[in-house]
Amino acid sequence: MTTTVLLLLQSFAGIAGAGLWLGAGFSAGSPAAGPSRRERMTVLALAAGGTIALAAAAAIAVVLAGRGWWFAGEKIVVGVPLQLVGLVASRVGIVWWLRGSRVLLARTLMLGGAYAMTAAVLATWLVGYPPQPVATAVLAAAVVLATGLTWALLGHRGRRATAGFAGLLAVLLVGAAGWSWLSDTAAPTIEASGQHLHGPSAPTGGDPAVAVTALRTPDDAPGEVHAVELTASRHDVTLASGERVEAWGFGGDTVAGPELRVTEGELVEVSLENRDIDDGVTVHWHGYDVPNGEDGVAGVTQDALAPGERFTYRFIADEPGTYWYHTHQASSEGVRRGLYGMLVVEPEGGVAESLDLALPVHRIGGEVVIGATDGLQSFTAEEGEAVRLRVANTEQSPIRVTLAGAPFRVAAVDGRDLSGGEALEHRSVRLGAGARADLVFTMPAEAVRFETDLSAASVVVIAPPGAGAGADADETARVPREVTDVPELDLLAYGEGARPELGRFTAEADLVLDRLPRFVGGAPDYAYAVNGAVFPHIAPIEVREGDVVKITIANRGFDVHPMHVHGHHVLVLSRDGVAATGAPLWLDTVDVRPGEVWELALIADNPGIWMDHCHDLSHAAAGMMMTLAYEGVTTPFEHDGHGNRPE
Ligand code: C2O
Ligand code: CU
Repeated sequence: MTTTVLLLLQSFAGIAGAGLWLGAGFSAGSPAAGPSRRERMTVLALAAGGTIALAAAAAIAVVLAGRGWWFAGEKIVVGVPLQLVGLVASRVGIVWWLRGSRVLLARTLMLGGAYAMTAAVLATWLVGYPPQPVATAVLAAAVVLATGLTWALLGHRGRRATAGFAGLLAVLLVGAAGWSWLSDTAAPTIEASGQHLHGPSAPTGGDPAVAVTALRTPDDAPGEVHAVELTASRHDVTLASGERVEAWGFGGDTVAGPELRVTEGELVEVSLENRDIDDGVTVHWHGYDVPNGEDGVAGVTQDALAPGERFTYRFIADEPGTYWYHTHQASSEGVRRGLYGMLVVEPEGGVAESLDLALPVHRIGGEVVIGATDGLQSFTAEEGEAVRLRVANTEQSPIRVTLAGAPFRVAAVDGRDLSGGEALEHRSVRLGAGARADLVFTMPAEAVRFETDLSAASVVVIAPPGAGAGADADETARVPREVTDVPELDLLAYGEGARPELGRFTAEADLVLDRLPRFVGGAPDYAYAVNGAVFPHIAPIEVREGDVVKITIANRGFDVHPMHVHGHHVLVLSRDGVAATGAPLWLDTVDVRPGEVWELALIADNPGIWMDHCHDLSHAAAGMMMTLAYEGVTTPFEHDGHGNRPE
């Protein structure tokens, strides 16, 4: 059974147990003549059902703990004890009630026990992981006060007693909400504190602090300058389908920004101007490991550019591969509206394939835009020629893509070559939000279709000259898509090559992904949390230069979280306890599905304060952002100051 199913079953069993015991408590009346036979049978049946359900909940919690403590911590430490206390109280109550003695106390105990069981269910959301002591104490106190209130009501103890308990309960709940709101206004934690460093490398306090603004590409960096101008502006675009969208873009009159193609060894200089994006704009080089000060994150590495402002990014093109760029200011809206484009760093000797297309896959105005346009696009390649498609998922959720008509290889993922991958046929490749894959094939005599699972109409057809296939868009849209019914490739088992020796781990971090009620930016939200907290209050992954960091990500929630770390790639060690066996897989975006546990290695070789967040940007905006922070690095920029909103 999958971990996700177990999580669901555990909650259902807990809800059923609490519900049945609540039913038993409410069914137990206090007639003067003692309970009738029928009343006894009802109460006993409900109680028996409730007890069985609670036993199941506890058993499943134990199984979950076997899958990883992250999935069961608060259930075992808080939930099961609350259920046990509730069960004991309710049982004592039921025995007294059956005997007809101390009936008021008996009924109060039965209901109070059921409240404790209810609190056990709520603990999963209110206490979360790691179990938070304050939330646990609030829950326990609420159970006690609600039980007191019940006693006052059932026993007709008068207005004062009732109002007293009700008032205390209200004060407790309002106080808890206020405390939660206050912790949301606390100082952000995006710099390293020096207190969370693991391993033998205790802080020496030796290194002087360095600001992110000093971590820029040096003025005298080598390489021939490759200058680019990007202008961010609002512009309406009419797509090939006729759909008109109110887009924001980085220039040109298409949805995606200009494709930046540079050559290994060049010094890239991108001058960004914000013409009229009122929310502000930056450029972040997704997957490209630039120096920290060039990373383009509003509120962390720079201020967002207001209309009329400029910023110049500089970096050396020394990592050939497929990347993309996008705004990192109000990005959940900006990227969706089109503030993105492709960045391709060609290897020094040039690209081996004769046709090389960069294809960001995006959705806007209900249409699926591949490259710069929706609908059918055709390209030609001579039979026998090699073709490379650089596919990027610029969407918020995972996509599947495939090539129909030719065997293909996945030659690279997230800008890093994959060695020794076999040719694939009738396979799809899954790309998490933000991820890229380079698909390479040899042109056959007939047309080849690039398909995504997002749309039957938006396809790219590559055919030899004169083969004619794909000329008719309507007909093309009618061809059954392969992508929706072929199996997915598992990249962890694809290709071959020895895993690089990274040395001993010197730092460690666990990231437990969850969905919890929290305050985000001052407003209550059913937020996306890491380790029980939301941005900017999630404790950073703290490292020092040279660390080899083991990162474990566990997803307790029911959403997919494409976790993206800036400035670094991570080497995949294992997923759900199964070691990666294919070619070394270096990713910048790790698509963590519900219930999954990924173990990753990161080499801390690029000092700075780096965002680490979910690339479902709506999740990022709802809290799921944190930093990978090097000890001693500081930032003068402020989240929220200057209107900076990286999410
Ligand atoms: Cu693609 Cu933090 O970004
Ligand atoms: Cu997410």
